Amino acid sequence: MRERFLNHNVMINKIIANLLPYFPPRFVWLFSKKYIAGKTIDDAIKVSKELNAQGILTTVDLLGEFITNLNQANANKLEYLSIINRLEAEEIKGNYSLKPSFFGLLIDEEICYSHIRDIVALAAKSNNFVRIDMEDSSCVDKEIKLFRRLFSEFPGHVGLVIQAYLKRTHQDIMSMLDLQNHPSVINYRLCKGIYIEPKAIALKKHDEINKNYLDLLKTLFEHGIYVGIATHDKQLVNAAFKLIDELNMQPHQYEFQMLYGVTPELREAIVRKNHRMRVYVPFGKDWFGYSTRRLKENPNMATHIIKSLFVRG
Ligand code: FDA
Repeated sequence: MRERFLNHNVMINKIIANLLPYFPPRFVWLFSKKYIAGKTIDDAIKVSKELNAQGILTTVDLLGEFITNLNQANANKLEYLSIINRLEAEEIKGNYSLKPSFFGLLIDEEICYSHIRDIVALAAKSNNFVRIDMEDSSCVDKEIKLFRRLFSEFPGHVGLVIQAYLKRTHQDIMSMLDLQNHPSVINYRLCKGIYIEPKAIALKKHDEINKNYLDLLKTLFEHGIYVGIATHDKQLVNAAFKLIDELNMQPHQYEFQMLYGVTPELREAIVRKNHRMRVYVPFGKDWFGYSTRRLKENPNMATHIIKSLFVRG
């Protein structure tokens, strides 16, 4: 009976997610505003300050990905540079996240590298840090290459995301160990992975992904790699607490990370235990595209739209 109810739910969510791009943006915003800081840099600053006041660090992301011409790449670079200047001037306690496809990764790798290099150089000048988000599997090799190049020039100022659903990730960690050369510690964000990938290269079952997530987390800890434990999955958070205790990991060796607006109660519980927490704060005028794409990738989120229509606040 419960299974039939869940199947219905999944089907309805999929239908809503597919229809959403045709809905008026004002309607989609009702849902999106919970997960997006706003449309402008001022909105991102306001949200970052609120989170900082709760003892939470941020990583600010300008929304957008997969551009189609290189003029956009240059404009996006300039926008990121001005974001860094603004956030540093406002003394926000947080760093920056970006998606390489937003700078032309799939059009011209060299131009993409030079744009991201400018961004990392500016962040490094402020003794800050840029996280390279991991995109779909067509980008993984290219993003690893990009990270390697940037890390060798700006160790301590650039990090990468790795995805537990990809079967290759353990091998990727091993092949990048040569970068781990004290004091330049590698810094990864470990997440499950959000894109729809073929079965041949990606784990599909929740339990398999969670098991791999914990195996990878253990491997990272054992190699002294700094980890951003990015998940809202309570089961994984509890297992991570256990691993931190067992391996006697120190607070400067890891942090927890969550997306803005997702599972705030679990987030607060982690902060109350005095673990470092960072929240991913997306903002920008591309909020509509971002929301509808995320919904198609994860139709279960549609439930949250319906809730946001009926539940006040
Ligand atoms: P899971 O999907 O099992 O969710 C656990 C529980 O959390 C759910 O049952 C639900 O209650 C809640 N939940 C999760 N997502 C929710 C949502 N959107 N709305 C409401 N509730 C939600 N992926 C990627 O491929 N590349 C990347 O660079 C990043 N970057 C990134 C940064 C940060 C800080 C986070 C937290 C996540 C990412 N991700 C990502 C996304 C990640 O891969 C993954 O898809 C999501 O975090 C969901 O996976 P969970 O680990 O939360 O578990």
